[in-house]
This record gives sequence, C-alpha cells and structure tokens, in this order.
Amino acid sequence: MSTSLAPAVNAALATVIDPELRRPITELGMVDSVEISDDGAVHLSVLLTIAGCPLRDTITKDSEAALLGVPGVTAVDVELKVMTQAQRDALKEQLRGPGGQRGIPFNQPGSLTKVFAVASGKGGVGKSSVTVNLACSLAAQGLRVGIVDADVYGFSVPALMGITQAPTRVDDMILPPVAYGVKVISIGMFVTGNQPVAWRGPMLHRALEQFLTDVYFGDLDALFLDLPPGTGDIAISVAQLLPKAEILVVTTPQAAAADVAERAGAIATQTGQTVAGVIENMSHLEMPDGGRMELFGSGGGQLLTERLSATTGTPVPLLGQIPLDILLREGGDSGQPIVLGRPETPAAAALAGIADKLASRPRGLTGISLGLQPR
Ligand SMILES: Nc1ncnc2c1ncn2[C@@H]1O[C@H](COP(=O)(O)OP(=O)(O)OP(=O)(O)O)[C@@H](O)[C@H]1O
Ligand SMILES: [Mg+2]
Repeated sequence: MSTSLAPAVNAALATVIDPELRRPITELGMVDSVEISDDGAVHLSVLLTIAGCPLRDTITKDSEAALLGVPGVTAVDVELKVMTQAQRDALKEQLRGPGGQRGIPFNQPGSLTKVFAVASGKGGVGKSSVTVNLACSLAAQGLRVGIVDADVYGFSVPALMGITQAPTRVDDMILPPVAYGVKVISIGMFVTGNQPVAWRGPMLHRALEQFLTDVYFGDLDALFLDLPPGTGDIAISVAQLLPKAEILVVTTPQAAAADVAERAGAIATQTGQTVAGVIENMSHLEMPDGGRMELFGSGGGQLLTERLSATTGTPVPLLGQIPLDILLREGGDSGQPIVLGRPETPAAAALAGIADKLASRPRGLTGISLGLQPR
C-alpha cells in the first residue's frame, strides 16, 4: 500500500510551489522526508529556509491540499523544520548558480530579461499606476515579472499591489513578496509605519544596488523599475546599474507636460539607453453621453514621440493612450490593479494593449554599455 502510493504522492508534492521562490518544493530541497502508512496516512516533513518564514501556513495548507487530492491518501500531517546552514547554502548556490554568483543578474551576458524603467518629467502623471498594471498584465499572460520600486522617497508600489507582507531574508539573500504573480521589492517594505526615508544620493544608489543584487528575482521575462519623477539621482543610478534598461516615458496630453517629459526621455541620449516608447496617460475622460472630455488638452503624447525621435535619432513609438477612469484610481487605492479587477474598461484595455506591445518586443542579448565618460 505505502509503496504503491509513493509515485502519486511525489507527483502531488511536485505541484506545491514555494510562494516566494516560485519553484516546486521538491526542486528546492525543501522536502525532508515523506512517510506513507499502510492506512494511507502521510507524514510530510518540510524544511523551511528560515525559522520565522512568514509563508509557513501557505506551504502547510498547499501541501495538505495537494496530498489529500491523491486517491488513497486518507490523512496528512505536515511537520515544519528549518534548514541547516549547509542546506541553506546549497539552496542559495542552486538559485544563484555556482559560487553563489553576485552582481546584478540582469547585466549578465546571457540575461534575456527585458528591463523597463518607467520615467516621467512631472510627478503624478501615473508612472506607478502604469508600472503595476503593465506588470500584472504581463504576469497574467504567464510571463515571469518583477517590479523594483525605485521611487525611494515616494514609494507607492506595495500599496498599489496590496502588499503588506515583508520580504523574507535568507542570510544575505532577500526574497521579494509576490502579488498577482509579480515579485515586488520596495523600500516601503523595510520602513515601519509611514516613516519617511531621509537619504542623500549615495544612499539612494546603494539601496537600488542592493535591490538589484541581493533580491532574488530568479529568471524574469520582464523587470519594471518605477522611477521617481524627473531626472535626478535615481534616474542616473538606474542608467549606471542597468545600462540595458529601456525607458518608458509617461506623460499627460498637455503640451507643457510633454516639454518636461522630453527631458526625462532625452537623458537616454546621455546614458546610452533606449527609449522604448511614450505612454500618454489621462488622455481624456469618457462622458456618460459617449463624448470625450479632454481635461488636459490633447496631443502631448504624439508631440513627445516626435521630439524624442528627433533627439535620440531613433523612432520612438507612442505605445498607447490611457483614458482617465475613476476605477483605475480606485484599483490603486484598493491594491487591485484595474487590468485584473476591471479588464473590460477602456483604461484597462489600453494598458493591456501596451503590455502586449512590450511583450512582443524582441528580447535583446547584447548589453549596451553606458555611454557616460569622465571628462
Ligand atoms: N488614467 C487614470 N485615471 C484616473 N486616475 C489616474 C489615472 N492615472 C493615474 N491616476 C491617479 O493619479 C494619481 C497619481 O498616479 P501615480 O501615483 O500612478 O503617478 P506617479 O507618476 O507615479 O506619481 P509620482 O510622481 O508621485 O510617483 C493616483 O491617485 C492615481 O490613482
Ligand atoms: Mg509614483
């Protein structure tokens, strides 16, 4: 009896995914032992990475559900243990590669991750809302997606994604919380309450660097960086740390906003980065009578693409125009991005359309070196 159940029990365990590492627990060395009694009762011993693992309940419940789904299994008892240092080291080596490779994985020669830095000239044009919606849209299509909230002073991504969970630390490796299939890291997860982050430029750079080196994202298809507005320290740090990152410039339809946004995009010519495209947000408001109210004027997105095409010398596309929608704002406030909560709305459709365009961009293998030279 016990041996005949073993293959099915093992297959069921292979469907249990570690919520943070996003890999089957069987592949991560987390299954310590499985005992199957003659009466069909299963005793499973699971090794957690750290003692205080916040997701211990999830792992327990998922393991129980998977095992109870096996015909013949009558009862399940899950025992949680903690990995030894040697087991943790082996896991880290498995995740990071031989020697526990450090450095920024997205800059490795073989990295196929598309990195998008979402920038704007002015604040409040919708960068963070666009970032989370694009990320969720791609994750819903089955892509592996991450977000780095690079707006260190004005972090907002955890709230927009409804994340209250803190990252798990496994020695020097940080495991990012996952929401809607997206791995997210933000300075907001490291401060208590609503404390401000009062740091100067070098600290900002170090924080960003640590997010990119110490946080285990695994192999991603796309990584989004939600930048603060303008062309300050962080935009320069992103260019230095991730020279391959392509810039997505968010603007409103207002001509004056496009003027300011042009500077955020034009920084690419100084840093050797590519502008992947322009996203016009808050384009218009659909009226109950079917008409459109252009609250912020019109043409800003188009104007910006023309100007950036001229300054960068390469065609910069207008990737989409997102209308104003109260549901978009409400989705942000409630931590459920509109592309998932209200996909039928025109705003969600516009965002999903932009995500599709990004998904169909070829994954580039060649790293572009930073064009900045000391004088
Ligand atoms: N298309 C839209 N329709 C309705 N509300 C929107 C839209 N886009 C953004 N908003 C709202 O506008 C506000 C600013 O958006 P968001 O925080 O995404 O902008 P931001 O560019 O990231 O701002 P900051 O520069 O402060 O980081 C938010 O309250 C958001 O919900
Ligand atoms: Mg923002």
